[in-house]
Amino acid sequence: MAEGKGTPLADFIKSYAAEGTARFHMPGHKGASLLGCEREDITEIPGADSLYEAGGVIRRSEERASRLFGTGDTLFSAEGSSQCIRAMVYLACLSGRRKGSRPVFIAARNAHKAFISAAALMDIDVEWLWPESPESGICGCRFDTGQLESLLERVPDAAAVYITSPDYLGGCQDIPAIAAAAHRRGVPLLVDNAHGAYMAFLAQPRHPIRDGADMCCDSAHKTLSALTGGAYLHIAASAPEIFFKRARRAMELFGSTSPSYLILKSLDLANAVMEDGFTEKLELAAVRLGSIKSHLEALGWQTAGDEPLKLTLKPGSMGWSGNHLAARLADRGVVCEYSDRDHTVFMASPFNTPEDFSRLESALLDVERREPIPELLLPITSKRRAMSIREAVMGKAIDTAVQDSPGRTAAFISASCPPAILPVTPGEIIDREAAELIRYCGIERVSVVEEY
Ligand SMILES: Cc1ncc(COP(=O)(O)O)c(C=O)c1O
Repeated sequence: MAEGKGTPLADFIKSYAAEGTARFHMPGHKGASLLGCEREDITEIPGADSLYEAGGVIRRSEERASRLFGTGDTLFSAEGSSQCIRAMVYLACLSGRRKGSRPVFIAARNAHKAFISAAALMDIDVEWLWPESPESGICGCRFDTGQLESLLERVPDAAAVYITSPDYLGGCQDIPAIAAAAHRRGVPLLVDNAHGAYMAFLAQPRHPIRDGADMCCDSAHKTLSALTGGAYLHIAASAPEIFFKRARRAMELFGSTSPSYLILKSLDLANAVMEDGFTEKLELAAVRLGSIKSHLEALGWQTAGDEPLKLTLKPGSMGWSGNHLAARLADRGVVCEYSDRDHTVFMASPFNTPEDFSRLESALLDVERREPIPELLLPITSKRRAMSIREAVMGKAIDTAVQDSPGRTAAFISASCPPAILPVTPGEIIDREAAELIRYCGIERVSVVEEY
């Protein structure tokens, strides 16, 4: 792959904006300043390249990203990892060995809802990998490779193994072991690495492509400097040929024909950020967050997860629910990423200032200790399927109260914050366990397949 240089897309946009042309092209704001960024919000004018036929400035920028991440190829997304997930599923379906029947994926149950929408759109079946114990938490899905091995034996023609790592609480899977198991059977491994883009630049780098995955998606907006919506589809050099050949078409299939140039520009600039002492900056942030974590642990706080830039607290040990702690901190001007009954999650990056870290630390140290609240560990076990995901999503549905739903067939995704483990997927029969988990997620009504 040719080596990209500089920030070609950002340079082009900057010079075009400075030209002061009469804009008789989209967007309709014509560069007039309402938000302040319109001059740089352009469309596919000559020289600007075109995301789904990239061969100019966008392509050069993607090539630079590919080199930075050490991939065989990297494509930009202006529509998040969600678009990349659908593209990965499509590509795996193309390369699948099962002829004449629905492709089957082996997937860890904490899949993001974009995976379910891909399953509905492409009519795939899923054999789920279930968490070994409720200890993985509401967002995690730690499974034994033995469970994967036996599914691979049962479905030797699976289109792919699909996992999420890191999860929302910062739990990471053993990707090298999972990749080895999948590859022994000739099955590709796809990883939802939406939360882990930055980990490729740690002093001890960790990234799905380096660890053996065939493809992964990274949300550049979650942990890098890109604007919301910026993401990458990464393909490993060793991945099946068809992934390379059809990747661009795959992204086009699920994307808008008007990808935002502001987001694409931010991906271009992210390359420069990653090349400019990023590892050192990441380490500084990780050390600072790590010191807050150790300090809290020494005071009796329980934590979870092994991602260096995520602080996941289990504040029940201090007598607080995750949601109450989040609200208490928000009153002090410290806003977390996620909370539920048992967890409060803080995401840091090198763009947090030293003052941010001090505010986080002092707000947490001010939290008074109360009577501990035991963690609610809800089991999640396999469900009976009444129909395919697609049939359920495309069928007639009605809403019902969760307490009345056991025995009914789920018609849609019932999860709270992505990617809480999926209590039930479309087409599965809701049981009491799933209903309890749905209510834990704060959801009171669910969509079920209408019965006559
Ligand atoms: C694990 C996981 N995967 C995928 C996504 C989707 O990413 P994006 O928002 O970039 O489309 C999210 C979003 O929260 C996520 O948490």
